[in-house]
Amino acid sequence: MWLPMYLEKQNEKEMKALGLKLKADDLYAANRPSIKDAICQFSGGCTGEIISPQGLLLTNHHCGFDAIQKHSTLEYNYVEDGFWAMSRADELPCPGETAMFISRMEDVTALALQNVTEAMGERDRQSQIDKNLAQIKVSTKKEKWEDILIRPFYNGNQFFLFVTVTYTDIRLVGAPPSSIGKFGADTDNWVWPRHTGDFSLFRVYADKDNRPAPFSADNQPLKPAHFLPISLDGVEEGDFTMVYGFPGRTDEYLPAAALRQAAEVTNPVRVDIRDKALKTMDRFMRNDPAIKITYISRFANIANAWKKWLGEMQGLQTYNAVAKKQEYEAEFIRRIGQKPDWKVRYNNLLPRLNQTYKDIEPYAEARDNYLETFMRNVQAMGVASGLSGWVKTFEDGNAAAFSSKIRDVSARVENDFTAYSPEVDKAVFTVLIERFAKTMRPEWGGAFVRGEAERLGGFDKLADYLYSGSVLTNADRWKALAAGDAGAFGKALSQDPVLAFWRGVSAPYQEQVVPKLQEHQTTLNLLQRQYMAAQMQVFKDKRLFPDANGTLRMTYGKVRGYSPRDAVRYEFRTHLDGVLEKYVPGDYEFDVPQKLIDLWKNKDYGRYATKDGRLPVAFLGTNHTTGGNSGSPALDARGNLVGLNFDRVWEGTMSDLNYDPAICRNIMVDARYILFIIDKYAGAGYLLQEMKLVKGKRK
Ligand code: ARG
Ligand code: ASP
Repeated sequence: MWLPMYLEKQNEKEMKALGLKLKADDLYAANRPSIKDAICQFSGGCTGEIISPQGLLLTNHHCGFDAIQKHSTLEYNYVEDGFWAMSRADELPCPGETAMFISRMEDVTALALQNVTEAMGERDRQSQIDKNLAQIKVSTKKEKWEDILIRPFYNGNQFFLFVTVTYTDIRLVGAPPSSIGKFGADTDNWVWPRHTGDFSLFRVYADKDNRPAPFSADNQPLKPAHFLPISLDGVEEGDFTMVYGFPGRTDEYLPAAALRQAAEVTNPVRVDIRDKALKTMDRFMRNDPAIKITYISRFANIANAWKKWLGEMQGLQTYNAVAKKQEYEAEFIRRIGQKPDWKVRYNNLLPRLNQTYKDIEPYAEARDNYLETFMRNVQAMGVASGLSGWVKTFEDGNAAAFSSKIRDVSARVENDFTAYSPEVDKAVFTVLIERFAKTMRPEWGGAFVRGEAERLGGFDKLADYLYSGSVLTNADRWKALAAGDAGAFGKALSQDPVLAFWRGVSAPYQEQVVPKLQEHQTTLNLLQRQYMAAQMQVFKDKRLFPDANGTLRMTYGKVRGYSPRDAVRYEFRTHLDGVLEKYVPGDYEFDVPQKLIDLWKNKDYGRYATKDGRLPVAFLGTNHTTGGNSGSPALDARGNLVGLNFDRVWEGTMSDLNYDPAICRNIMVDARYILFIIDKYAGAGYLLQEMKLVKGKRK
């Protein structure tokens, strides 16, 4: 996860030795077009890339899924059936989707840390830094249409500035049916061998000057500074690949105590809560196609993190991550012992980190219990928490402040209602509060929930009472009140049972847990920053990449299979034959469209087949990726797109905390499968005409 602007200094030599045929400044240059100009952060959480001179954008199906779902109804079900715009006019506007490109980046550490001293407390330090960053922002030159982002790196030891350009007129161009784009769904998610055609196509639009502009029929397709050619050659084991994108978050430099806590305390809480929520949602979705459409995107998101946390905790155990970190810490201690000034400065770090992880543990567990139950998995409670402060302005008699926000708040809540079923939410609520009442300490909210259930005659009765009487669980009631008299609306909200319940359970949490959590977290942040700085000094001989933080990074490696267990060896590539091996007619996750079956029967693969006549679907590499890298291009040695990153293998899901090159692999859709689906399956071959397809360039 290397910094694009330092590739020449830090990585070029190694990348060339591995096979790269370009120079570092072909990948990143600040003042001439380079490959980075084709890469964008897609809608905040994924990566996308431009693959034509007319702004065609490629990303994952799961990254475009929200947009696809929002355009879907039982009648026009693009989630089920796919969507292909047969002309520009058919492309579907996707409000809310964005494409953010990087114009340039800069190290601003010295300015960011000006007047920051070691003696400063954490709060003073942060306010000095905030002041410095504000100053940097106003003094940095940028164009009107550009924005400035500054992010901490290495736990706050360095700071980099990014000048960005964000386009907001994004339109849906194409998506395969879920039986291709989401083939294998949650059963196959995070797993190899994989057979998912996880891609979708959008187009970025700009104003007549090629600048960002809100949606307008007059906008034109973006003319990018660079777009990625697509290779028809495919990859073979051992080929060089690199993945350019926006990895979200890793924590590779934590102490062993943190890994143990994740594996044994916090991940298990999260997994258990989501497990219960998912089973409940799944029951409804399988019974009712309308509920399936409503919940399919939400379900996928909840399930994705659930499964990752499960894989992560298992991987940490199986591959002895804690013991390995302890060895690393022993080496750290050995090295600092050799230098008296290191010993003075760093000797206390690990003992203090260990103690603080011990101190924070009960609060961290309570935090995950509370957040997963009330903020992430029960929708009505999430809505209540977002409204409480605003309703308070009404209760405090500030009618003007209350009224002025009705429109904004209402737009947000009504948007939440587009993916809401009170029946499903109530069922999730019922199982989760029962769990909460049993597991949360009484004085931290457990007693409140138990008391409410006893008062109303059980958890079911409590749920009935809250969900039948609330405005937050009923879209029609909400709309009617929001459109009516502000005083009546405020009064109804201040008497709302769901809001009252949420306030009842959040008060002890806010009073008893949050202050302690913050106190220990502040200590951890300080210690981790010092520990990071110490590691960079003490392990100067190792190159330490900065943890992912949602900024543009380059990762590289080779196409390679792996061995998950004794005597088991996974090959690096899957094929269409494997899709048919997994095929279960009519299945929720493993159905296959008839047209694809016919193409397979006739071996009608055109120019997209491998040398041995099979159709490639996905392949593995040793590139170090994480969440946010989804949709990132996998490039060959010459910068041609050969794959589309979308996942990691099960045994390697721990890689955010413990990257192990022997076992961690990223999963990419083979570019040839994408082209095949567009061309042969969807009959949208006209889209290929705007792309640049290259052949005969593999070596
Ligand atoms: N695991 C991949 C990632 O973290 C793919 C997720 C999409 N698929 C799903 N079933 N939710 O995002
Ligand atoms: N599937 C992930 C994403 O959406 C990628 C990963 O976690 O490997 O970014």
